[in-house]
Amino acid sequence: MPNNPVLVIGASRGIGAELVRQYLADGQMVHATVRDPAEPGELAGLDGDLVLHRLDVRDPDEITELAQSVDDLAVIIHNAGINRAPRAEIMEVNAVAPIRVIEAMLAAGTLRPEGVIAIMTSQMGARRDRTGSLGDYGDSKEALNLEFRNRADDWRGRGALAIVVHPGWVRTDMGGSSAPLSVEESATGVRDLIANLTPEQHGRFWTWDGREHPW
Ligand SMILES: NC(=O)c1ccc[n+]([C@@H]2O[C@H](COP(=O)([O-])OP(=O)(O)OC[C@H]3O[C@@H](n4cnc5c(N)ncnc54)[C@H](OP(=O)(O)O)[C@@H]3O)[C@@H](O)[C@H]2O)c1
Repeated sequence: MPNNPVLVIGASRGIGAELVRQYLADGQMVHATVRDPAEPGELAGLDGDLVLHRLDVRDPDEITELAQSVDDLAVIIHNAGINRAPRAEIMEVNAVAPIRVIEAMLAAGTLRPEGVIAIMTSQMGARRDRTGSLGDYGDSKEALNLEFRNRADDWRGRGALAIVVHPGWVRTDMGGSSAPLSVEESATGVRDLIANLTPEQHGRFWTWDGREHPW
């Protein structure tokens, strides 16, 4: 089994936890972040080559510490996100933090050449022909998408293959019980997308099942 270490940011539950489970089941080494490693949520008791790291994505000191604690990553998945909080907090967690985290990881040289960066966005951040507000959550994911597009050329120049991903509408705390997709289906699709990513796909918006999404 090749050693392709993966970092999953925001992994205590939902899609993030399932990504960790699946990569571990495949025999990969996984670095996973949770806000408190003493309370790792759904990661408690998982078997495999798992290292837990403390990270609240709003905390610049914890971001710096994480960037100094990981190395030689083949894949970085920024999964953390929220939809029920004051607008400023939603913007900070969903739009500001992912860019800050990835910039810190790249600056510290934690990603292998041609390593993959996948940031969870949402179809709700796709502006298409809309002119009004997308709501706080949609606005935050739209802002993330815009900033991602601003940085994509620079990140490619630094050796990364980077994409934003809509994971589908998934049965999690965020997605609710009536969502059509299980975490298993979504995480399997996201992992396939990442494993088969080509340089031509860099800088673009993809769905969990490998379709390109319009901005
Ligand atoms: N579920 C869907 O239908 C759906 C659809 C489109 C996009 N997405 C996106 O997919 C990603 C995962 O969604 P999900 O449904 O799995 O959500 P979830 O079940 O609500 O889990 C969210 C994860 O993000 C973490 N997180 C939240 N705020 C954080 C912070 N400040 N610092 C560190 N970690 C933080 C949570 O950690 P704690 O346990 O510590 O709070 C948790 O592990 C999100 O980016 C979401 O926007 C989901």
